[in-house]
Amino acid sequence: MCGIIGFTGQTEAAPILLEGLRRLEYRGYDSSGVVIGNGTKLTMRKKAGRIAELTKHLAASPAPGTCGISHTRWATHGPATDANAHPHFDTDGNVAVVHNGVIENYMALKQTMQEAGTEFRSDTDTEVLAHLIGRYYQDDLLSAVKAALAHVKGTYGIAVVCRREPGVIVGARLGSPLVIGIGPDGHYLASDANALAGYATQVVYLNDRQICQLDAESWVIRNQDLDTVDSPLQDIGQFLGIGDAELNGYPHFMLKEIYEQPETIANAMRGRLDDGDATAHFGGLNLDIKQLRSIDRVLMTACGTSYHAGMVGEYLFEELARMPVEVEYASELRYRNPPIDRHTIVLAITQSGETADTLAALRESKRMGHTTLAICNVVGSSIAREAEGGVYLHAGPEIGVASTKAFTSQSVTLAMLALYFGRMRHLSHAQGTEIIRELRRLPEVVRETLRCHDRVKEIARKYAHASSMLFLGRQYLYPVALEGALKLKEISYLHAEGYPAAEMKHGPIALVDADTPSVFLVPRGNVFDKVMSNMQEIKARGGPVIAVCSPNDRDVASLADDVIPVPDVPEYLQPIVVSIPLQLLAYEIALVRGCDVDKPRNLAKSVTVE
Ligand code: M6R
Repeated sequence: MCGIIGFTGQTEAAPILLEGLRRLEYRGYDSSGVVIGNGTKLTMRKKAGRIAELTKHLAASPAPGTCGISHTRWATHGPATDANAHPHFDTDGNVAVVHNGVIENYMALKQTMQEAGTEFRSDTDTEVLAHLIGRYYQDDLLSAVKAALAHVKGTYGIAVVCRREPGVIVGARLGSPLVIGIGPDGHYLASDANALAGYATQVVYLNDRQICQLDAESWVIRNQDLDTVDSPLQDIGQFLGIGDAELNGYPHFMLKEIYEQPETIANAMRGRLDDGDATAHFGGLNLDIKQLRSIDRVLMTACGTSYHAGMVGEYLFEELARMPVEVEYASELRYRNPPIDRHTIVLAITQSGETADTLAALRESKRMGHTTLAICNVVGSSIAREAEGGVYLHAGPEIGVASTKAFTSQSVTLAMLALYFGRMRHLSHAQGTEIIRELRRLPEVVRETLRCHDRVKEIARKYAHASSMLFLGRQYLYPVALEGALKLKEISYLHAEGYPAAEMKHGPIALVDADTPSVFLVPRGNVFDKVMSNMQEIKARGGPVIAVCSPNDRDVASLADDVIPVPDVPEYLQPIVVSIPLQLLAYEIALVRGCDVDKPRNLAKSVTVE
């Protein structure tokens, strides 16, 4: 979603801000802008559309100076226009603001200000904040920001500059991330550490309700009472290397990330499998053995692809740990009041660690006194810091808007957690050893699975212009059917539905015709025969069938129009293997349809608003 990058230092700000904005592009946006201070002059440049438009605008009309803030906007209040792009000035042009999040009471604030004569130049909620800060400004930007924020309800990560305080940037956060970067050429303020690789050597995260001030030489973080807060500096190398956020020869981040999966799955398992005790170990759960043994139910909460991983987790925990699991969309959980007893843990699953609904569900669960854990990829993200314990995926930055490697890393992490809880309960040493053996094979199996790419390309060409697609699977592969449909929809804009294979008779089968292919997930396993019957039902109605199946499966081949063989693994690991051809299918169909794979329309990588 929206992104912020600010710089104050010894060198020209514009190139740094533009490069930072490019690195934030993956979050999804529809306009961008900068404001740069040169002495007591603030120059603003902003444009609807891609950052390339802003770059052209800046080349034609430069904004000199060594202190500036910039923004990529994902439209919420008002369409993507030059006027609605951030930054926004107050009436006198003294103060400029960029903002991530939503000011929920902006209508009331705006009305009061309009009645007092303030003229607004945009439809945004952010402009309200600019005018408020402007009104409170006397001679100290930090105090004015603090005073203005006292009137605001909602969420924000903001960066503010002021004509009368050259070289100073003030930032504040509530529910939307902000990180200060410290580098040899100056100081940075960003919504995402990804934007700072290669510039900053160290980073420090702001917590909610903190406010910060930076200039070329110094930085400080303060609490609500404006007392200085001691915040830990962290080495940026801990988060990412420069090359991690680059394409390294791949045409798209999504493809790069699909191909990284043998390695990212190995990284998720590294140091966590224990042959001696035939279990898994996790350094960060922060629960002692007594607390762990007292857990008798897990409530998983997440959004999108992470929710589908949670559904895989439900099957895993049920089978391997014999533990009841409920999986709930975070956007629903946050407003429910479920009767969760003291022996239930709440497990948030998230790649970014910044998804607004997942963060809110986690906070609400904590408030109700539940133990909260998180499975998270982004180190230092809000959810990683606020959960009481958790497991990092170590998958490296996921830049493609369509989540791929995070899903397989989440699934493997959930398998390890299920093994861990299973070994505390009923799984024998021999069963644990067998599960570890299968987990260890996975990176190689996934490498082998990726060889289906050419086959998938042919199939993509054949079906790219279908009117709609069904994805059908049962048991462990039901969540994968949902995930396959989500992947296809989000990057190719081809309508798709995921269903439990037998459920399609209760309605969706009405969609089946020669233009509506069904992707069946049918590797050998317990429900193989049942899924084959479901496949017959589709064939009998003239629907083309693409089957993801076991190698050399003649039964499937005799029925399906196209097959994608994948290596055999135990059923509890099939979600990982079977999701790979579905990721490739979505990618290849999107290419044939001419879609921008890494920047799908209307979508944001990290959904930081409700
Ligand atoms: O960062 P998170 O895992 O919390 O994100 C959740 C969803 O927004 C995300 O998985 C989204 O559905 C992806 N675009 C799917 O590819």
